[in-house]
Amino acid sequence: MARQVSSALVTGGARGIGAAIAEGVIAGGGRVVVADVDDEAGLALVGRLGAAARFIHCDVTSESQVAAAVDLAAEAAPVDAVFANAGAVGTIGRIEEHALEDYRRTMDLLLTSVFLTVKHAVRVMRPHGAGAIVCTGSVASLRGGLGPHVYTAAKHAVKGLVESVAVDIVRDGLTINAIAPGGAVTSLAAGLMGDRDDLETPYRRLAEASASGVPTTAADVADAALFLAGASRINGACLVVDGGDSVLGNAGRASYYV
Ligand SMILES: NC(=O)c1ccc[n+]([C@@H]2O[C@H](COP(=O)([O-])OP(=O)(O)OC[C@H]3O[C@@H](n4cnc5c(N)ncnc54)[C@H](O)[C@@H]3O)[C@@H](O)[C@H]2O)c1
Repeated sequence: MARQVSSALVTGGARGIGAAIAEGVIAGGGRVVVADVDDEAGLALVGRLGAAARFIHCDVTSESQVAAAVDLAAEAAPVDAVFANAGAVGTIGRIEEHALEDYRRTMDLLLTSVFLTVKHAVRVMRPHGAGAIVCTGSVASLRGGLGPHVYTAAKHAVKGLVESVAVDIVRDGLTINAIAPGGAVTSLAAGLMGDRDDLETPYRRLAEASASGVPTTAADVADAALFLAGASRINGACLVVDGGDSVLGNAGRASYYV
C-alpha cells in the first residue's frame, strides 16, 4: 500500500509543479514547507493552503538556506518527503554563444541545488530510517533536443545523481527517484512562449504539440511525484510524465530553445 506523505518540503513550491505538489500534500492531510525565492507567490499560496502549510524564503543555490529549509520541515516531526523541484530554463542559445558565467549559474540552479537538497534531506532522514526524495528532472534528462544545452546537461546529471544516491541509501529505508515531465503548463513554459503570467498560451500550444491533444498540467506532474513519494519499492527510477509523447516520437515537435 502506498505511504501517505505526512510532512514534506517542496523547493520551488510557490508556483507551477511545486505548488501543485504542496496542494497535493495538504489535500492528503499532510503538512508542507514551501521553499522558494518568490516570497509573494509563496506567502499567497500558504495563505490559501492554511495552517498546515508554511513558507520559507530559500534560494536553492545557497547551502545554508537549503539546510534551514530542511531543518524547518523536520522541526516538529521527521520529514518523510522532500521534493527537489526548484528550477528555471537557464541560459539559452547556440553552444558557442554561451558565456561561462551563465553556464555556471544555470548548473548551480539546476544541479548544485538538487545536490544540496538531497544532501540535507538525507542528513535528516537517514537517522530515522525512512523518507522519500523526489527530484524534478525532465524529458531532457533522457535525450537531447528537448531543452537548451545546459538545461539538458544538468537534467541528465540530476538523473545520474538520483541513481547514484539510490545505491547509497538503499539499506537505510530511504528512496530517491526522479520525475521527468515533458512540456507542462506552468509559468516556466509560459515564459518560454513570451509571457510568464499567460498560462492560456502554453495550455493551447502544448495541447497542439501533444499526440494526445491534451496538455500536461502541473497537477498531472504533482500526482506522479506524490506517487513516487509513497512507493516504498521504487528506488532510483525516472518516471516520464508526458502523456506518452516521448514514446510516440512526438516530444521534439516544439522547440523554443535555440
Ligand atoms: N514546465 C515544464 O514544461 C517543465 C518540464 C520539465 C521539467 N520541468 C521542471 O519542473 C521544475 C518546476 O518548474 P515549473 O515548470 O513548475 O516552473 P515555475 O516557474 O512555474 O516554478 C518554478 C519555481 O521555482 C522557483 N525558483 C526559481 N529559482 C529558484 C531558486 N534559486 N531557489 C528557490 N526557488 C526558485 C520559482 O520562483 C518558481 O516558484 C523545474 O525543475 C523545471 O526544470 C518543467
